[in-house]
Amino acid sequence: MIGIAQLSMRLTAGGRPVTILDDVNLEIPAKQMVAIVGPSGSGKSTLLGLIAGLDRPTSGSIRLNGAEITRMSEGALARYRRAHIGYIFQSFHLIPTLTALENVLVPLELAGLPSPVERATELLSAVGLGDRLHHYPVQLSGGEQQRVAVARAFACRPSVLLADEPTGNLDQATGRQVMDLLLSLQRDHGTTLVLVTHDPAVASSMQRVIALRDGRVESDDLQTQGD
Ligand SMILES: Nc1ncnc2c1ncn2[C@@H]1O[C@H](COP(=O)(O)OP(=O)(O)O)[C@@H](O)[C@H]1O
Ligand SMILES: [Mg+2]
Repeated sequence: MIGIAQLSMRLTAGGRPVTILDDVNLEIPAKQMVAIVGPSGSGKSTLLGLIAGLDRPTSGSIRLNGAEITRMSEGALARYRRAHIGYIFQSFHLIPTLTALENVLVPLELAGLPSPVERATELLSAVGLGDRLHHYPVQLSGGEQQRVAVARAFACRPSVLLADEPTGNLDQATGRQVMDLLLSLQRDHGTTLVLVTHDPAVASSMQRVIALRDGRVESDDLQTQGD
């Protein structure tokens, strides 16, 4: 469960105060699939980064499975993130000097999990890249790179998966394929999924759609279909 209460993010830019998130309150049950939508600059990436513990809010709290991450020390937060959170970026963010297999191995080895090579190989096979294990990111297409990123994000069996426009740099067909893999891993692992998207087709495949505008929740709708 993700519990977000009275969450605000304010910064000073060019000497002027800017409100990026303004009193956001959300409860996201375990295993729910949520799309975050809204115009550019509405605060979507900021919200995702706060849930991931990549940034600290100005005020308010975020609880993940009962743990209040907004109160954790840097060290505790880093450990928590590694154990419980997967993150997928629009621009893949693979380590260019490592192969596909090595990229997926990084979080497994950091977490000290058993049989990391077997687990990484299994995940890469699950996303259709069993024959690309030793390719470097530059030798892979955009869709293939994002599939490696999907495999990496699920490596440590996170309870929460956050994805910031994961299909934003892919063409429609490739994006659909990446989404199908992501959703199939999400189902297999029972992961809570919070995904930022501009694509109405992607949003409509989620159970719930939350729209942000100017840093506030503008609407929050359960979808009749979804799943
Ligand atoms: N570090 C920062 N300093 C100043 N303004 C920022 C910073 N990060 C984000 N913003 C501003 O906050 C607003 C929301 O940004 P963001 O969360 O990236 O929006 P979205 O992902 O919805 O496009 C934007 O207006 C952006 O310019
Ligand atoms: Mg963004």
